[in-house]
Amino acid sequence: MDAMPIPIVSRLKHPAGRRVLMRVDFNVPLDGGRIADDERIKAAVTTIERLAAHGAKVILVSHLGQPDGWDRKFTLAPVAVRLSEILRRPVRFVSARLDDDEKVARALEDMDDGDIALLENIRFYKGEEKNDVFLSRRLAALADAYVNDAFGAAHRAHASTAGVAALLPSFAGYLMERELRNLGRVLEKPKSPFIALIGGAKVSTKLPAIEKLLTLADKMLLGGGLANNFLKAKGYEVGKSLVGPAEVKLAKRLLGKRGLVLPVDVVAATALSEKTELRVCAASDVRRHEYIVDIGPTTVRAYAAELKKAKMIVWNGPVGLYEITRFRHGSVALGRVIAARSLGRAYGVVGGGETIACLQLTGMAEYVDHVSTGGGAMLEFLSGKKLPAVAALEKAKLTHR
Ligand code: 3PG
Repeated sequence: MDAMPIPIVSRLKHPAGRRVLMRVDFNVPLDGGRIADDERIKAAVTTIERLAAHGAKVILVSHLGQPDGWDRKFTLAPVAVRLSEILRRPVRFVSARLDDDEKVARALEDMDDGDIALLENIRFYKGEEKNDVFLSRRLAALADAYVNDAFGAAHRAHASTAGVAALLPSFAGYLMERELRNLGRVLEKPKSPFIALIGGAKVSTKLPAIEKLLTLADKMLLGGGLANNFLKAKGYEVGKSLVGPAEVKLAKRLLGKRGLVLPVDVVAATALSEKTELRVCAASDVRRHEYIVDIGPTTVRAYAAELKKAKMIVWNGPVGLYEITRFRHGSVALGRVIAARSLGRAYGVVGGGETIACLQLTGMAEYVDHVSTGGGAMLEFLSGKKLPAVAALEKAKLTHR
């Protein structure tokens, strides 16, 4: 990886006995407090294990969800338990607040070489999303070096993803390196037909990125919450489906762009539950009391036909509310087509926590060329944007050499 402009963690000299603050993306889907999918935790294991094996004291930091202040619902405590099971060794969970210096110091002081600790959800602090310099300093004060392995959060310029990199010798973890290398291939060697399938709910992050990605891809097939904004922008009734005025405005601007494809039929439900009544209707025929919960069978067939011709595929975001079994047909069916086409006939890239969870449901995840832990981060990277966390590592290289 010498061509990479950022230093990789293998270049961290003499890690034994040094405290390493490692940013990970443990923003895992939760289902009633239970970890619904632990792929993101597993993805960080290589870097954690290698650092620990070399005797570093590894202090992990992550966000979980979008809490408004200190909200126990978003505690990382269950993640520490799961990580400890995966690593088959203890992981110390540090619940103390970072502004309580003494408590934090006490919680970390007796760490032995190779020990692993996980801090409480960094988004409990207001300063995190503001990239506050005081929070960055508190984080930097905990360690001798910084490693960023949180590709999934690399599109965020936050204290733990960007700010702290300016204050410590900083390195990319092995996951970050692999993500940048494999996704870089889509930008460096695009192959036609290049088909992007984009769905999911985090619309405000995705819309600006898909505008740029549209210039790269031959076709962009839309589904999920994202597509609802476009259907609304077309003047269609979307019933009780969640759409935002700003997003609909942006969608209106993108409508009619070359390559953009919308669902022609959808599955509509009267309630968001397994037992609800379902019906398939034209995308223009949704009723006011209904939710759009999946793409319809005609759309599945049309999208599958496009994907079967592709030489390059990017999939981000389920095309329906996959958490409910009866609403996941479109996502699983297209996931199967993508996996079957990848590793050979097409270079297939699938990314995002929920998308990976859908891909797992197909049982074919290993047939995809690159499964990215990033959702919004992957899209922003593929739209050609320099990710703030990557920019921070590049700059850190210059200031800390
Ligand atoms: C993700 O799930 O895409 C990342 O963890 C980033 O999360 P965020 O959108 O809440 O910043």
